[in-house]
Amino acid sequence: MEAGWGALMFRFLVVLFVASCGFGGSIIAAENGSAAQFVKEYQAFLGTVQETGVIHEFDLVAAPIQLSLGRGKPAMRWAYNGQVPGPTFRVKLGDRVKVTLTNKLPQATTIHWHGVRVPNKMDGVPFLTQTPVQPDKKFTYDFIPQDAGTYWFHPHVRSHEQVERGLFGVLIVEDENEPDYDQDIVWVLDDILTEEDGSFVDQFSLKILDTGGRLGNILTVNGSSKPVFEVRAGERVRLRLVNVSNARNFRLSIPGLNSSIIAVDGNLVGSLQQVDTFNIVPGNRVDIDLMVPLDFDGQTIDIANTFFHREAGGGAAEGPEVMARIAVKGQVKTVKTFLAPTRADIPDWKGALDIAPDFEFDFDTSLNFDALWTDKGFLSFTINNKVYGDHDITALKNGRFYRMRFTNGTGLYHPVHIHGVFFKVLARDGIPVNEPYFRDTALLDYDGSLEIGIVPADLGEWLSHCHLLEHAALGMKTTIDVTE
Ligand code: C2O
Ligand code: CU
Repeated sequence: MEAGWGALMFRFLVVLFVASCGFGGSIIAAENGSAAQFVKEYQAFLGTVQETGVIHEFDLVAAPIQLSLGRGKPAMRWAYNGQVPGPTFRVKLGDRVKVTLTNKLPQATTIHWHGVRVPNKMDGVPFLTQTPVQPDKKFTYDFIPQDAGTYWFHPHVRSHEQVERGLFGVLIVEDENEPDYDQDIVWVLDDILTEEDGSFVDQFSLKILDTGGRLGNILTVNGSSKPVFEVRAGERVRLRLVNVSNARNFRLSIPGLNSSIIAVDGNLVGSLQQVDTFNIVPGNRVDIDLMVPLDFDGQTIDIANTFFHREAGGGAAEGPEVMARIAVKGQVKTVKTFLAPTRADIPDWKGALDIAPDFEFDFDTSLNFDALWTDKGFLSFTINNKVYGDHDITALKNGRFYRMRFTNGTGLYHPVHIHGVFFKVLARDGIPVNEPYFRDTALLDYDGSLEIGIVPADLGEWLSHCHLLEHAALGMKTTIDVTE
């Protein structure tokens, strides 16, 4: 049997076609990486988890509680297990986590495991991945975290209200060989909006919303204003920062202490990053390696937020505002001199910008006249001119490389978050950047743009949204559907 020229030629063309269209549809310069190579690099970065067989069973009861905000009368907040922030769960990579949520709130709720690659049905997005948990009902989340690092959890029903009222907690997944820090501390960064008399502003109507979202007038760390943390001179401290605020960006200054960022959104970085220029937007986690100089015994260091909100009405302070203090007392006997942890397998994805974007997402606003007769806001926050519910589903194939472009038609900033995946920022506002880490939330700046590369690795329809929670509530959400 001989295959005719026609058939051979046809097969050759099919091969050519598949080769050029398989990954994003663009042919790129040879000295740069190819989309196929980016996929391999990302999959190697993810690795595979060895299950330990250990099961952690945690209970989370979400309920209203009276809590003092430090001044004025105690405020009614909503809390997990009676505390704001909620508990910090620590597990080892490969352990199984079972969390039973009991809803004692006057509203339905869910838990979303922010940044954790969970099975789609454990992702906590109402009506997309699960039916919301009604008052007096329970739901058990059950998953094995796939990546070590600092993560957090929060409701995904009326998040702008439920998170702001106090529902959030931290999940730490430890690697088998964690560096030997003297202290491992979590700082949950937030802001609370209070009235003159110090009481909590109990108003969550989207009708009267300030478009920049809810900015508080008291900055808090772990629920209190300007708390003091004690360290000893010579200590090595791992500080895990989590921004749980609805709308506030933080940029911290840590004067005098030898400090660098070792992880972003859970993942260790490829090279150490500077703390004082880093935007910690709502949703972000940043882990810092701190070294307290030996001659600092007896000193107190102020940690201040130096980011100022353009649109922050009366809420934000005018100068750098102190968030917490570090008091140095006593000295360690042996100073730990290990190198700050980094990982060598963060690809630079050189050439990824040469690939044309597969998808564009334009973040914008439009007037909403329905607000006259509904409970909705007068401004809709849209992605490609559509609010959530009317949105177009973005279809992605598992294990392919995609380029996405986010543009911003608003004079407001938007923390872009994608569930179920890490991505890499390739350019910001048209300027190429080489961030040596993957993240799950990135700042789309005032009137700016964001170019990212992404390789979906988990099946299902995942939410993607602005993590400025009021914007999300007003429609700025969409979905990506990852199929085989
Ligand atoms: Cu922090 Cu959609 O979530
Ligand atoms: Cu936004």
